[in-house]
Amino acid sequence: AQPVTISDLARMKADGEKIACLTAYDASFAALEDRAGVDVVLVGDSLGMVVQGASTTVPVTVNDMVYHSRITAAGLGRAFLMTDLPFLSYATKHDALETSRRLMGEGAAQMVKFEGGEIQANTIEHLSMRGVPVCAHIGLQPQLVHKMGGFKVQGRDGDVAKTMIRDAKLLEDAGADMILLECVPSSLGAEITANAKVPVIGIGAGPDTDGQILVIYDILGLSPGRKPRFVKNFMDGAASLDNAVADYVAAVKDGSYPSPSHAFK
Ligand code: KIV
Ligand code: NA
Repeated sequence: AQPVTISDLARMKADGEKIACLTAYDASFAALEDRAGVDVVLVGDSLGMVVQGASTTVPVTVNDMVYHSRITAAGLGRAFLMTDLPFLSYATKHDALETSRRLMGEGAAQMVKFEGGEIQANTIEHLSMRGVPVCAHIGLQPQLVHKMGGFKVQGRDGDVAKTMIRDAKLLEDAGADMILLECVPSSLGAEITANAKVPVIGIGAGPDTDGQILVIYDILGLSPGRKPRFVKNFMDGAASLDNAVADYVAAVKDGSYPSPSHAFK
């Protein structure tokens, strides 16, 4: 199959074809996802939690992300590769450019993702004008956990929702090529998606975003403890890992995932 490009992702939004995304952190999982038809693979800084065993994403370093991005890229043939910038590695636009240079160079990322609303507009413009494709991560921002006092649904309050709608527009105007929306009510996910010209990928953002993303270990039932509402274990009833990941892709494409039980009101 032809490699997925940023133009394909834009076309999928235009055509109403849902974009199936998953995290991966190494070549074997990347190859599994690639075979199953995943469109976008994210090397998420969630690796701090699910690979390194920390309780937040805060300790993850740029070197960690470069390493995991490179070994994930090695497993891909078709899927588009996006990699997270870790905590405080993009605090200034100059830092963000240098971190992106490493992730796209040594790490072979085709797009970088980082957290933040309006405060990131200048950074996104700086990167975008220099040829760095950017995904703007808004809604729940896990890197702010110590500032927020936990991981909570965002945008239930009307003013917060309004700010998020405005931020999405602002970041798109600054040059963001994609928006990732984490843990917001379905109605807000739908409104931001309808207003956006670029694809909006949701995690716990309801059924109406242009695509969905989940953490690979979560859909394989490998993550211990209480799982977030939006997680679905695709190993339940699946005969193999390949079937489970293919079932996830099919469920995103036909809209059967996420169901109302995976969404926030
Ligand atoms: O790090 C990550 O895995 C992410 C996704 C959950 C969106 O940012
Ligand atoms: Na992340």
